[in-house]
Amino acid sequence: MTAVLRILWFWLAAGALAPAVAQDKPVDDTMPMMATGIILPRMDAAAGRQLFAAKGCVLCHSVNGIGGADAPPMDAEYMEPMMNPFDFAAGMWRGSEAMVALQREELGAPIELTGQDLADIIAFVHDAGEQKRFTEADIPAPISALMMKMDGGE
Ligand code: HEC
Repeated sequence: MTAVLRILWFWLAAGALAPAVAQDKPVDDTMPMMATGIILPRMDAAAGRQLFAAKGCVLCHSVNGIGGADAPPMDAEYMEPMMNPFDFAAGMWRGSEAMVALQREELGAPIELTGQDLADIIAFVHDAGEQKRFTEADIPAPISALMMKMDGGE
């Protein structure tokens, strides 16, 4: 009898607890847990579209065929379908020597970025819809002047 009761109890307990447990779990089982004290910023692709141009990534990297040809294009189609943003940052780190040298040459100094800037730029490079909105009009005057100078110099 006790065994039957115990099974019944487990069955009821499991049923009662299941919804609470399900709510606590991330929606996607493959979504990794964040480490203690770590939060990820909200990633804004529209802000990233502005930053990609204003921060000068567009001098060397292109989206929609707009931008320099000195470096790999950043169209969403070239990104992993499920992208780990840290892999993008690691790619920047790997390319950093060439990038910083070129930035010194073209901009006079390396580009300064906050974590939020980078998060927004990464959202943009992964968002084909937002990339369709990217036009020459997004490029601030000083950056387009530099682009023209670079084109002329080559
Ligand atoms: C002055 C030119 C220049 C600017 C400006 C520039 N990059 Fe680059 N970037 C490069 C070059 C050149 C490489 C390739 C380095 C290599 O292949 O070793 C590169 C590589 C990268 C890579 C690695 C690509 C890969 O295939 O692994 C990423 C990611 C990247 N850049 C992001 C950015 C972002 C974001 C910005 C703007 C904040 C930026 N870059 C601005 C020249 C530039």
